[in-house]
Amino acid sequence: MAYIWPIGGGKGGSGKSFLTSSLGRLSARLGKRTLVIDLDLGAANLHTLVGVPYPKKGFSDFIRKKTFRLEDTVVETPFENLFLISGAHDNFDVANLPYEQKIKTLRAIMKLDYDSVLLDLGAGTSFNTLDFFLISQHGIFITTPEPTSIENVYRLIRSIYFRRIRYCFNVTDFKALEDEVVIQFGDGSFNKPECMIKVIADVYPEKYEQLQDAFSAFRFKLIINQVRKHDNAALGMQMSRMLEKHLGLHIEFAGNVAYDDHVHDAICQRVSFLDRYPCTRTACDLHEVGKQIVQPGGQQLMFRYL
Ligand SMILES: Nc1ncnc2c1ncn2[C@@H]1O[C@H](COP(=O)(O)OP(=O)(O)O)[C@@H](O)[C@H]1O
Ligand SMILES: [Mg+2]
Repeated sequence: MAYIWPIGGGKGGSGKSFLTSSLGRLSARLGKRTLVIDLDLGAANLHTLVGVPYPKKGFSDFIRKKTFRLEDTVVETPFENLFLISGAHDNFDVANLPYEQKIKTLRAIMKLDYDSVLLDLGAGTSFNTLDFFLISQHGIFITTPEPTSIENVYRLIRSIYFRRIRYCFNVTDFKALEDEVVIQFGDGSFNKPECMIKVIADVYPEKYEQLQDAFSAFRFKLIINQVRKHDNAALGMQMSRMLEKHLGLHIEFAGNVAYDDHVHDAICQRVSFLDRYPCTRTACDLHEVGKQIVQPGGQQLMFRYL
């Protein structure tokens, strides 16, 4: 069974695709059969970052039923052990994927026969994006040190938290839960994770236990990308502590990745940054983060409701 790593962040431009391609490349270099999937369908560009200028097939062939098996949409990249499912021919957003197709895709991804599968999820907090994130208990959040990016990634993590709670309730019970939160904590409080979880603990102790198990099984990681010299190097640890305090979620800080103008140069030249600039600080940072992806530890648990 593959380790599936959804990769997301609140904001476009934070480096999700660059990190997906770099981590994919490192995993493949270490001998793991690695597949990267471009699910940022509105803005698909992962193919360019893994050296495939014109993917002949891709995710849309599966969605449009040109092919029945998701694995038949895989293309090779110039790198040994690294494979791609491109989103290049899709002109719709993953947010608009109809429910049936989403479930079909999630199931197909879970059956893929690779050592690691990395999903480039793009920005946003649509239910579909959250469901793709919750496909596995592993996952990577990317942010830059800018407050706008941090706000967005926090919103994404909070949305994932609420979405996971939502899985435990049917529509009627969830509505009753929201009403109870408002009765106990006042207007607008159903948006506050700490209020909602308190009510669940009081009123639905079994579901509370279930959720505690699910949350403690999460092996999510946080990467701060594009870190410049004068940025706060401790930001990742601070965010991790804050998330633990407010959501009770352990999101491990996996490391900083330094800003380097050579990233832009490598992308413009359509070459792999890691190959062209292997001795840079950024390349070393990517290696450090990459080790944790290749050997994540723990058992891979899959999303149970599928
Ligand atoms: N560590 C970095 N150092 C310098 N520039 C970077 C770094 N990471 C990403 N970038 C720049 O940010 C741009 C956007 O990255 P990308 O991965 O496409 O973002 P996203 O997929 O999150 O929208 C890249 O084209 C690159 O120029
Ligand atoms: Mg992208």
